Amino acid sequence: MTEAQARHIVLAARPQGKPQLTDFRLEDTAIPTPRAGQVLLRVQYLSLDPYMRGRMDDRKSYATPVPLGGVMDGESVATVIASHHPGYAEGDIVLAQTGWRTHALSDRADLRQLDPAVAPVTTGLGVLGMPGFTAYGGLRVIGKPAPGETVVVAAASGPVGSLVGQLAQLAGARAVGIAGSAEKCAFVQDDLRFDAAVNHRAADFPAHLAAACPNGIDVYFENVGGAIWQAVLPLLNQGARVPVCGLIAQYNGVGQGDGTDGLPATMRAILSKRLTLRGFLYHECAEAHYPAFLREVGAGIATGRIRYREDIVDGLEQAPAAFLGLLEGRNFGKVIVRVDA
Ligand SMILES: NC(=O)c1ccc[n+]([C@@H]2O[C@H](COP(=O)([O-])OP(=O)(O)OC[C@H]3O[C@@H](n4cnc5c(N)ncnc54)[C@H](OP(=O)(O)O)[C@@H]3O)[C@@H](O)[C@H]2O)c1
Repeated sequence: MTEAQARHIVLAARPQGKPQLTDFRLEDTAIPTPRAGQVLLRVQYLSLDPYMRGRMDDRKSYATPVPLGGVMDGESVATVIASHHPGYAEGDIVLAQTGWRTHALSDRADLRQLDPAVAPVTTGLGVLGMPGFTAYGGLRVIGKPAPGETVVVAAASGPVGSLVGQLAQLAGARAVGIAGSAEKCAFVQDDLRFDAAVNHRAADFPAHLAAACPNGIDVYFENVGGAIWQAVLPLLNQGARVPVCGLIAQYNGVGQGDGTDGLPATMRAILSKRLTLRGFLYHECAEAHYPAFLREVGAGIATGRIRYREDIVDGLEQAPAAFLGLLEGRNFGKVIVRVDA
């Protein structure tokens, strides 16, 4: 890449099941020129998130798929390097929907200014950004943990799960995390200070989960689906709440993803236990809750009560491999690509 060139990554092919590196293509392109009302951004950090797997498929969803040959969607921390907009000056650092690019134009609608003095700017992609707000909104609006209740969350070392457990504890509940390795479980229990952590890849995982939840489960924050849901279902208490946030075990789309079919048992439990399961998208409660989220979680980070972990890889060209790792659990923490920092 020369000084006069930008780069981006496009969707080269629609994956059949598990995505491959050949489903992506890195391309050189000209650095775009901003018009009146626009700013030119240079991406510092690109966020990689599970929802991007859905955008690679051409099927009906709440979001439009990425077209073949189109630049992959994604949110970034970026620096304003030229501004033709009165609200922004060169050097401003913003959150922006740039996609997987080194440079992008924006007319402001998608920008949020970041203040590096408040928190490290990468937190705008994780604990203080969309994933963090997902945890906050799902618990506030649906989970509503009460003191003494048990809250369980899977993908517990990731950006959504790690905040779910910590917020549950701040509400006086007991937090149990489920994660995919002994090392991740140690992080969840020792660093994040959950009350317990259970490895879903260990033999006899359902029995270990039951032992970690002697009083059953009052809130199960669903991030994964599949075999983990099967283990959680019998432990749900009367009146349990299940914010259905994500189903990453099923994102590669082949049947139930991992070969389990929990639907009949799920439907029986919803009826007999009078469960509240509610799907949600983080932006539905943004107007009512976003300012309080930034205030409360920002304060928690500043005092050290709320902790987070980032998994940073270097170079836009590493984005496809890092994304495939995220879908297989090889990431450990919020996945961020350092594009130009
Ligand atoms: N509803 C919304 O508005 C919204 C917004 C943001 C995110 N989400 C959803 O929230 C969930 C967590 O997202 P995140 O950003 O915090 O990402 P994340 O935790 O970094 O997600 C990746 C992790 O998921 C786990 N995982 C992947 N495949 C799995 C499988 N087959 N079985 C069990 N665990 C598996 C792995 O952790 P382990 O190794 O620990 O298993 C992996 O490290 C995702 O489902 C995402 O789609 C929803």
